[in-house]
Amino acid sequence: MPIAYLNGEWLLAEEAKVSVLDRGFLFGDGVYEVIPVYNGSLFCLERHVQRLKNSLAEIHLDEYLAETDWAALLIEAVEKSGDAMAALYIQVTRGPDVARSFVYPENPQPTILIMVNPAPQLASREIKAISLVTLEDFRWDRGHIKTISLIAAGILKNQAIAQGANDAVLVKDGEVTEATSANIFAVINGVIVTPPKSTSLLHGITRDVVIELAREHGLPIEERPMLRAELEIADEVFISSSTLEAWPVGQIDGNPVGNGEPGLIWQKVDDLFQAYKLM
Ligand code: PDD
Repeated sequence: MPIAYLNGEWLLAEEAKVSVLDRGFLFGDGVYEVIPVYNGSLFCLERHVQRLKNSLAEIHLDEYLAETDWAALLIEAVEKSGDAMAALYIQVTRGPDVARSFVYPENPQPTILIMVNPAPQLASREIKAISLVTLEDFRWDRGHIKTISLIAAGILKNQAIAQGANDAVLVKDGEVTEATSANIFAVINGVIVTPPKSTSLLHGITRDVVIELAREHGLPIEERPMLRAELEIADEVFISSSTLEAWPVGQIDGNPVGNGEPGLIWQKVDDLFQAYKLM
């Protein structure tokens, strides 16, 4: 049974309740993190905590949570869950707001929710290349904030599925940004290319690790703008996230990427990642 931490209490996730006045519920006014747990350890814990704090700072909530020892709380949650392979979810909202005002409350009482969900698929992955469709990225211009306001991502993901694909690769002004909940890499003329960090995309932790591992092991990799048209000439494409790790893409807009199967460069990256995640 997944466990939850809610504002100082440890409960079963199903029993945790939040007020209807919560600004997370009323406005989507909150941020979140998803952190993989491998053999009982939180992967890249410090980086995730830093990104959480960055998101909180962007929405002017960090100052009210200065005393919170995030790392200790998250480690405690994993210990309490007893799950070796899991995905930890943490969400922080601006808390209840009787006035339902667009103006932030003066003394917010943030809601902190942590859930640990078993994720046995992180131990034994069944790799099958996925298909993407290109869709216009109509999300907002603060993509680096990990907001719980995921309505645009939901519309895009479900549009991709309605078109018979697994996910969408999003394009803004002719440039590729990311997938609906993952970053994207393409192998173009022997070089792994990924769009640079900007306000158009989430600064994925898995993305950072992939880049670092590639550099360390001599795989050519570049962070640079990626044109939509380049997806058509890419020999390989893969996406990355905390729940997928690096995952191969076999088709875009109905056309095969390379031979449609997971590619050799993806395989190298995945081998490096699999070794690294258990270190
Ligand atoms: N999503 N881009 C977006 C829009 C995302 O939502 C995510 C992660 C990523 C990858 O980031 P990371 O490597 O740090 O997980 C990129 C999580 C997994 C989710 O919403 O469930």
